Amino acid sequence: MRMQHPMSHRILVAVAAACTVASSNAQSADPSLPHLVHQDGRHALIVDGEPFLILGAQSNNSSAWPAVLPKVWSAMDTLGVNTLEIPIYWEQFEPQPGHYDYSVVDTIITQARDHELSLVLLWFATWKNGSNHYMPQWMKLQPEKYPNMIGPDGQPVDSPSPHAEATLEADIRAFTAFMGHLREVDPQHTVIMVQVQNEPGSWGAVRDHSPAAQKIFDSPVPSAALAAMDKPDQPNRNWAQVFGRDADEFFQVWHVATYIGKVAAAGKAVYPIPLLVNGSIRDPLDPGWPPRYQVGGPNDNVFELWKAAAPAVDILSPDIYIGETEKYLKVLELYSRPDNPLFVPETIGLGATTRFLFSALGHGAIGYAPFGMDDTRVRTGPDGTPLSREAVYGDTALNCRMLRPMAREVARWNLEGRLQTAIQMEVDPDAERGDSVDRVRYVTDQSLHFDGWDADIAFGTFRRMARTPSQPESPDGRLLIAELGGSRYVLAGYHCRVMFRPTGENEGRPWHYLIVEEGRYVDGEFQADRILNGDQTDWGLVLSTPTVLRVSLYTR
Ligand code: DGJ
Repeated sequence: MRMQHPMSHRILVAVAAACTVASSNAQSADPSLPHLVHQDGRHALIVDGEPFLILGAQSNNSSAWPAVLPKVWSAMDTLGVNTLEIPIYWEQFEPQPGHYDYSVVDTIITQARDHELSLVLLWFATWKNGSNHYMPQWMKLQPEKYPNMIGPDGQPVDSPSPHAEATLEADIRAFTAFMGHLREVDPQHTVIMVQVQNEPGSWGAVRDHSPAAQKIFDSPVPSAALAAMDKPDQPNRNWAQVFGRDADEFFQVWHVATYIGKVAAAGKAVYPIPLLVNGSIRDPLDPGWPPRYQVGGPNDNVFELWKAAAPAVDILSPDIYIGETEKYLKVLELYSRPDNPLFVPETIGLGATTRFLFSALGHGAIGYAPFGMDDTRVRTGPDGTPLSREAVYGDTALNCRMLRPMAREVARWNLEGRLQTAIQMEVDPDAERGDSVDRVRYVTDQSLHFDGWDADIAFGTFRRMARTPSQPESPDGRLLIAELGGSRYVLAGYHCRVMFRPTGENEGRPWHYLIVEEGRYVDGEFQADRILNGDQTDWGLVLSTPTVLRVSLYTR
């Protein structure tokens, strides 16, 4: 692998400047760079001047090596995603202090271009899942200089201390070199975002109990942390006095976020593209207390601390491995805020869970990426037999096939507030669901409300004239509707049926379809394959397979 010289003078100057303004959020001065825009509390990622929806997948952790990359590209091609999320390992990037090896990142970028993929690169550095395992060997072998935390029992914890100045300086230098390199080699903007660390924070102890950390814990809480948590200025009160039972947790969060905020600010000073931090989230409905969850990352209860301590981080993201629908939807709600674009950088990519992409879009998500989607790993089912590629990739691929051609439209509709979505909830086997033709026609699971029209949605698979809809083994119906204006809509989804109904001053009036077109988006334009009419519309708009419709309605 190619070695390059220690950091240039220009980058060192930038690092020094960034460290002194670590709390300032350097925004992109160059509108041609990937950047975020915000409009009335909604958001979009702009790439090459247009809104961009990340229909992504994340590789497995040990897949970012040239020898195994073919097994990543083969999976991306099967999935049909538009973006790959893949790590950059500090241990590979800086094999000797100050000597950076750009060969792997260059290979990934070049090959991503060959596969027409954008990249979100994941900076696996001080923290990876709460540990220091991706630090270079020369750091691991100097634990006094680059220490881990000490637990309350005086024993070392497998998690780096956020109070270690030497570690912070080394991470800032390496990350700045990495971002500076992206600026030099990526005028095409293949890399559209960077994740700073991976699931930072700690398991095993809530905070560092080393003498140096204890001294800070016993010192007054910084006024910025007080303000973030809506506490009055209390100049002489320490963390325990101000925060009581939350003190250990908030102390750890503040210092992890401050540390990462400095790394992020330094990188952004040389190359200002959007940066995110991902969190191993708490249970959104029943969080309990640490150590039930990882402490230090962007959990929903400490958003304000993160936003205040790390303003150079644009997005706080949830890694969602929760299967229960109610909890999944709650996480999406908690992480989509006027001050925080929703981006799901890791989630489950199998089976009916893939319908949650649509829920995320309903919350204005700028992107979504199932984890571990590459051919380096054999996945097995509950009985231990290997899953087929179709079982592993099939459902995510259906989403991508349907939405990738219209990804920019979806991102724009979301920024403009035109998009709504619905997904099938868990099937109640005892529920009464229509037993006559008329009732079948009008069975409704959910309704979406638009200007002058409601869309009544029933989920399942529908045979014309069937008395009851059939249900798949797992509830997997999904639908998005974009309101184009003038009683015109775009629908995309499957395993659902949609009936429109006039509301407001036209409520109860007879209505019909002016035209229903089935087709696809090509280069930003809808292209119809056929007009649907007769049996294909008289029983509602039935989306049996992944389908994109453009619909125009009128009242008579
Ligand atoms: C969450 C982490 O962020 C990922 O890197 C990976 O370790 C998954 N957990 C589990 O495979």
